Amino acid sequence: MKKVERQRLAWALTGSGHYLKECLEIINLLQDVDLFLSKAAAEILRQYGYKHNVGRVYQDKTASSVPVELFYHGAYHSVVIAPATSNTVAKMVCGISDNLITNIYAQAGKCRVPSIVFACDTSPELESEAPREHIVKVYPRSIDLENMEKLKRFEETTVVADMQQLDAAIQTRLACLKTSSS
Ligand SMILES: Cc1cc2nc3c(=O)[nH]c(=O)nc-3n(C[C@H](O)[C@H](O)[C@H](O)COP(=O)(O)O)c2cc1C
Repeated sequence: MKKVERQRLAWALTGSGHYLKECLEIINLLQDVDLFLSKAAAEILRQYGYKHNVGRVYQDKTASSVPVELFYHGAYHSVVIAPATSNTVAKMVCGISDNLITNIYAQAGKCRVPSIVFACDTSPELESEAPREHIVKVYPRSIDLENMEKLKRFEETTVVADMQQLDAAIQTRLACLKTSSS
């Protein structure tokens, strides 16, 4: 198996407006990161008009999720799925891998690459940003909250509940990699 020179971070965006801006703020400060977009994420990014400065972006355009082959070549040291829609979390919890993001999560798990997941439906009541900076109240259902709890039991998976925890989990992972390579 061909091993790549320098491993990168794979960041998956799903079709969530909630916390999208905040996640992009973190992404724009990171180096050596590739973006993976679900079909819904590509639409939502356009709808909200948010920008990012990542050079390498993989879109969900193939039936077999061709870009996941990169995991077989050891291209990534970690995966971040944030924000993760309740749809993506539900599929991951059921072991379904039928699109680019759920495939990345499945293949990362099978290749023992750790994943950090920030499900956006983290509490029974929250405020979310709709397009054009319109704030709406949403009430995640019990199934959404239950799925998030179930995901915590998956191998190689860290589930975070807010932006501070997401940032901290990424920094801890990067620091750990730095220590192990020095
Ligand atoms: C403007 C807009 C905002 C959305 N925000 C959310 C969200 O915050 N959380 C969520 O779970 N779904 C949200 N959705 C719905 C998802 O985009 C939809 O469930 C989609 O099928 C998710 O696909 P994916 O999980 O493959 O990215 C939103 C949809 C629209 C149109």
